[in-house]
Amino acid sequence: MKTYRNTLRIRGDDAAMECASKEVFATTVEIISLKQKFIICPWFSRFCPVRRTRASLPLWAFAGYLFGMSILSASAQAAIQEPSVAPPTLLVAVDHRPTISLNGDWHTIVDPYGTGLYTFHGKLRTDGYFMNGYQAPGGEAPEYDFQKSPVLHVPRDWNTQRESLFFYEGPMWYEKDFSYRRKPGTRVFFHVGAANYRSYVWVNGQKVCEHEGGFTPFDCEVTSRLKDGGNFIVMAVDNTRLADGIPTLQTDWWNYGGLTRDVSLVEVPEQFIDDFDLHLKRGTQTVIEGWVHVAGAAPEAQTTVSIPELNVNEAAKVGTDGRATFQFEATKLEPWSPEHPRLYRVHIHPGQDDLEDEIGFRTVEVRGTQILLNGSPIFLRGVSIHAEAPYRTGRANNDEDMNMLLGWVHELGGNYVRLAHYPHDERMTRLADRMGILVWSEIPVYWAVEFDNPAVLVKAEQQLHEMIRRDRDKASIVLWSVANETPVTPARVEFLKALVAKAHEQDPARLVTAALLVRTEGMTKIIDDPLGEALDVIGFNEYIGWYEHTPEDADKTVWKIAYDKPLIVSEFGGDAKYGLHGEPDTRWTEEYQANLYRHQLLMLRGIRQLRGMSPWILMDFRSPRRPLPGIQDYFNRKGLISDQGEKKEAFYILQKAYKEGTIGETE
Ligand code: GCU
Repeated sequence: MKTYRNTLRIRGDDAAMECASKEVFATTVEIISLKQKFIICPWFSRFCPVRRTRASLPLWAFAGYLFGMSILSASAQAAIQEPSVAPPTLLVAVDHRPTISLNGDWHTIVDPYGTGLYTFHGKLRTDGYFMNGYQAPGGEAPEYDFQKSPVLHVPRDWNTQRESLFFYEGPMWYEKDFSYRRKPGTRVFFHVGAANYRSYVWVNGQKVCEHEGGFTPFDCEVTSRLKDGGNFIVMAVDNTRLADGIPTLQTDWWNYGGLTRDVSLVEVPEQFIDDFDLHLKRGTQTVIEGWVHVAGAAPEAQTTVSIPELNVNEAAKVGTDGRATFQFEATKLEPWSPEHPRLYRVHIHPGQDDLEDEIGFRTVEVRGTQILLNGSPIFLRGVSIHAEAPYRTGRANNDEDMNMLLGWVHELGGNYVRLAHYPHDERMTRLADRMGILVWSEIPVYWAVEFDNPAVLVKAEQQLHEMIRRDRDKASIVLWSVANETPVTPARVEFLKALVAKAHEQDPARLVTAALLVRTEGMTKIIDDPLGEALDVIGFNEYIGWYEHTPEDADKTVWKIAYDKPLIVSEFGGDAKYGLHGEPDTRWTEEYQANLYRHQLLMLRGIRQLRGMSPWILMDFRSPRRPLPGIQDYFNRKGLISDQGEKKEAFYILQKAYKEGTIGETE
């Protein structure tokens, strides 16, 4: 008897067995979101009626679902085939919790064909690499062995660790053994600071979660998967670029793949803080307001917030939504600012959980064309930064990298950075908090993403949520950016307006912006992108003197601005190869770049509502779009500093303007 079984979930499947006996295709389907399970034989099959195990759905919905199933991408089918896995959650202030680090060397297998997950017919394997060499009785002998496979260091991208992986894009398997002793009343999460781009995680051969997005953290509950003694984690990380991804196929930065940030096990009590928002109330200097969300808490449970240095010790009850809300006076509070980056130890204490965080309190708001910090107008003297590590290149991910990059910002005389084009490592925003550097943080809705694809909006909203949730406690961050250089279409405006609304809803205490493109009519530059209506602050990118016109043409440029809002020039600049010298009109030379900056600063002084700037860019960074031999060599050379820390002439032009305060009107 030949049976064809296409089981999306094999578990206690006597029903499927029943179908199979009728020599038909048997499909067991579980709709994760509905937590329902169905046994379906093709309803057009005359052998076996549709049989539902738990819930009723109209027949046409079944048909729709069957059709949907057939077009689901392989990986999605994979996801469904695994034991149902809860979507990852996101713990906050993990860097202030006791953790068991899993950083270090992980065994790895480069798997361009996804052999570790798919059979030769593209069917998902039940004995994939996630089984870590386990051979099912009568199963095929494993043709892989993590223990004998080369290691990669975590956290770090794979591209700069092995010559052969420099251009590699595709699935990479990671395996790590560790021992653990379970503790009663303790929940355990596997924390990933970031993994580019799609991640699938198994613990002891059991699927625990998956995540899409290369620059935001996620936490997978592994409590029930751990055992006392030896355990192993297997991850598949796939940095294949997707048309329906965020970012999409085209970017002007290197698609560094892998486990690029810290990984660890985080232990929390049954009831624990998974999110909170405590900030200085606008219009006040001493009132702190906000909420604490306690996962697993019984309503009426008590939560306290104490700030010993301010004699604050406030209690509140958790509501049915798991939130305890707070508003209290802190009379001696010193507001956080670049000049005085005052942080306070804040203890949040519900039930058995106790989280201590370091938080600065400040207000940021807009009044007409001004940006007000703690009620006073401010000018953002900044520069844009990519998360590229100085000297060694690759993803920046340690304290030394961050100290170097932000140290240069202070050397420039800056009080502000634009972290482009994605959320950077949490070390960067923590350091900005301590150094008093204001931050623009952005999600990689970059260039032409699929704005008319609802699934892509969901991905963007997820990344926005993760960015805000991770860094809501950072005083340094004053601006959330929802996009960079996106084409002005109706679908895009709707898409981005939805993100702006989401950002305001999730964080009403900060400003929302985006880096817009500018229209050009002759020597007139026009900022009238319809998205401007929804933004608190308008960011705009212009490349007068590099991609268009000459540096001198900046002097003749007229600016037309449709909005009575604060403006930030989020990008301007030009490429220069460090050490290449020549006439000011010789492209790629330091003199050309310096000349461009002189004319830009002159022009920008003339834009009355300009309240900030972040020239492109602090340091040269790798880009696959920049192959010009002897000059670019796969680097974007618009840095004021080379990737080897060498300062170009333009660095000193900008430094002089910032230190002498010759740029930057606040009134
Ligand atoms: C764009 C873009 C950057 C890019 C820069 C450049 O404006 O936002 O990501 O690197 O231009 O062309 O150098």
